[in-house]
Amino acid sequence: MRVLVTGAGGQLGSDLVIALSGAVPPAGRRRALLGPEGGGAGVDVAGLDHTSLAVEDRTAVLEAVLAIRPDVVVHAAAWTAVDACEGDPDRAFAVNALGTRHVAEAARMVDAHVVYLSTDYVFDGFSARPYVEWDEPHPLSVYGGSKLGGERECPPGATIVRTSWVCGASGTNMVKTALRLAKGDGPLRFVDDQYGSPTFTADLAAAVVTLGLDRRPGTYHVTNAGSTTWFGFVRAVLEAAGHDAARVEAISTAELDPPRAAARPANSVLDNSALRLGGLPLLPDWHDGLARLVEVLT
Ligand SMILES: NC(=O)c1ccc[n+]([C@@H]2O[C@H](COP(=O)([O-])OP(=O)(O)OC[C@H]3O[C@@H](n4cnc5c(N)ncnc54)[C@H](OP(=O)(O)O)[C@@H]3O)[C@@H](O)[C@H]2O)c1
Repeated sequence: MRVLVTGAGGQLGSDLVIALSGAVPPAGRRRALLGPEGGGAGVDVAGLDHTSLAVEDRTAVLEAVLAIRPDVVVHAAAWTAVDACEGDPDRAFAVNALGTRHVAEAARMVDAHVVYLSTDYVFDGFSARPYVEWDEPHPLSVYGGSKLGGERECPPGATIVRTSWVCGASGTNMVKTALRLAKGDGPLRFVDDQYGSPTFTADLAAAVVTLGLDRRPGTYHVTNAGSTTWFGFVRAVLEAAGHDAARVEAISTAELDPPRAAARPANSVLDNSALRLGGLPLLPDWHDGLARLVEVLT
C-alpha cells in the first residue's frame, strides 16, 4: 500500500509520515492487496512538502499523483495562517479549496482514497454544546470558509477529519509560543473566552492513519479529549514545564490589543461523536498529549 502525504513538512504532515512509516494496512485490505497470506506488507510513504508540491498548481498535483500512484492521499497541506488569510482571500481559497479540488481530481485518476484535514473553524462557535459532525458549518473567517470549501471539494467516500488547536514537535504552535514567552519577563495575557480542545499531532496522526488506511467514508471530529480556553491551555503548558503558571493573566477577546484580523469561534469544542458512536478508539485527554510534547520540547 502506498500513501501520499501533502504538506509533509508541516506539524501534522511530519508526524503523519512517521506514523505511516510504521503502519501496517488493516488485515482485510492487506488480503485484498496481497492475497490470503496477507502479511509482510508495510506502508510505502511518499511525503511531499510545500517546496516539492504547491497544491494550487493543478498540473503539478496531477503529475505528482500520476507518478506516485498512491492508494491513499492524506491531504494535510493548507495555508494555516488564520489572520493572514483575512488579508488575502484569493490565496486562501486557491490553496485550501481549489488545491483540494486538484487533489481530488488527481486521486480519482488513480482510484486513490482521499483523507482531508479540516478544522473546528468551520463552525461559528455560538453553540452552547460541543459540535457534532452533523451540525451545520458556518465559518466566521476566510480561513474557515476556505477549509469548508476544501471539504466540499472532497470526492464521495472521502474521509474528512476535523481537528482543532493542533500542536506538535515541528512547526509553530501555542505550546512553543508559551514556552518561549515563559523564558522572558514580559506579560503573559491570553483570552479566557474561546474554548477548544488542544490536539497533539502524535495522537492525531495515529487516528488519521487508522481511518485513512481503512478508507472510512464521512466526516470525523478527531481531537484530544477535554477542553479549555487559551488562558487555561497556556497555564497548563507553564505548569507542565515547571514554570510559574500564576504569571498568566486572563483577558477577554475584546481586550486583545491589537485585535486579531480573523474572528475566532467562542466555542469550537468538537464532540468526537462519529468515533464514539462507531466504537472507534478516542484520543487521550489533552493534558496527556501536552505532558508528552513538553517532555520532547524541553
Ligand atoms: N494548526 C491548527 O491548529 C489546525 C487546526 C485545525 C485544523 N488544521 C488543519 O490540519 C492540517 C495540518 O495543519 P498543521 O497544523 O500541520 O499546519 P502547518 O504546520 O501549517 O502545515 C501545513 C503545511 O502545508 C504547507 N503548505 C502551505 N501552503 C501550501 C501550498 N500552497 N501547497 C502545498 N503545501 C502548502 C505548509 O508549508 P509552508 O509552511 O512551507 O508554507 C505546511 O508545511 C491543515 O489542513 C490544517 O488546516 C490545523
